[in-house]
Amino acid sequence: MATSIAVNSMTHSVEADGDTPLLYVLRNDLALNGAKYGCGFAQCGACTVVVDGRAVRSCVTPLATLTGKSITTIEGLGAGGAAHPLQKAFVAEQAAQCGYCANGGRPVKLQWMREDEFGWEPYGSAMVMKLQARLDARGRVVDWQHETWSHPRSTRPGGAGGNLLAGWYLADPVQMGFPVNGAQPAGAADRNAVPLDAFPNQRILLHYLPEMPLRTSALRTLGAYANVFALESFIDELAAAANVDAVEFRLRHLQDPRARAVIEAAASRAGWQSGRKGDGTHGCGIAFAKYENLAAYVAVVADVEIDRHTGNVRVAKAVAAVDAGLVINPDGLTNQIEGGIIQSTSWSLKESVRYDAQRLQTRSWADYAILTFPEVPAVEIVLLNRPDKKPLGAGEGSQGPTVAAIANATGTRMRDLPFTRERVKAALA
Ligand code: FES
Repeated sequence: MATSIAVNSMTHSVEADGDTPLLYVLRNDLALNGAKYGCGFAQCGACTVVVDGRAVRSCVTPLATLTGKSITTIEGLGAGGAAHPLQKAFVAEQAAQCGYCANGGRPVKLQWMREDEFGWEPYGSAMVMKLQARLDARGRVVDWQHETWSHPRSTRPGGAGGNLLAGWYLADPVQMGFPVNGAQPAGAADRNAVPLDAFPNQRILLHYLPEMPLRTSALRTLGAYANVFALESFIDELAAAANVDAVEFRLRHLQDPRARAVIEAAASRAGWQSGRKGDGTHGCGIAFAKYENLAAYVAVVADVEIDRHTGNVRVAKAVAAVDAGLVINPDGLTNQIEGGIIQSTSWSLKESVRYDAQRLQTRSWADYAILTFPEVPAVEIVLLNRPDKKPLGAGEGSQGPTVAAIANATGTRMRDLPFTRERVKAALA
């Protein structure tokens, strides 16, 4: 029996029983495949169409009930090839769309190759830090200045979708929003640029760079890794200028007893010998940070071997002491600190991307060196449990102290990352 129905402003004569679900008619007779068969029980919405202005589940709507009614499917949205406001909003919001079950979706497979990922992914922001300080006759810091130049790094996908690369290449592109720096005390680009215990006459300055030659986004710790590298390297430099042991110099300036405790614990476990100088081929360095100035206290002692002929630096061992407040899961806490040390060792000795004015030149793992298993240092973690203190985040606490401890262990002033053989040889020359 023929039934006449109006779909997307066109009248169709359909040969089907009156109890045939509209969904079957749309897909099988009219080749309108936007509506999908999902559950078949009016539960999932994959089959939804609009009938006389109301959304209905076509999987349970009999054909016989539709005579004289106006049916609109997803193919009928919009006019003259222009997207309907609903479709525009869907794109603008980067709404998730499953091609299998979502109404109007088509299954698509996009296969990115490794080279695509290297070529298009965001990278950690380049940063420059410049520090100045003065010491009095007793070797105490009397003024302090820390300047950082950096992108804010807060460009993860989210919000209106402008940070999602694919959004830039739509017919109607989604614009990238203006990147915003996180507020202190956690900060973002300037994370951990502020010393934990304020020095007299202290000035911390962020030179905010909203644009970078490469697309940048969040690398673990945001700016903390580089700021701690600079700050804790400079502390060592000041200790040397004051002719004071690096551990002693830190303890003289830090008032926070928990900060002092992790430094003492790391130094003790590592067998730190006051005033011991490296012999140019082997050295120990220490560094400390309280991540974000809000989270875990971490001190790291790095034991480093330097091949003066090749410039190769090997981190033989790293000892870390951690105070993350009440320790809830010792294994989890230890894993976080260990992982951060190994990641930071790899960043610090190996990792960087090369680019020219046109493109990324680093396009594969063959071009991008990371730490290999034989190069992974032995790691020892000391947990200082504080059952009377609230738990503190520890996830990114060891990256900053690790890089500075490695730098301080080389026995020379390393000012550029990573510590490649060429840079180490140049610094030693
Ligand atoms: S197929 Fe799930 S509601 Fe119709």
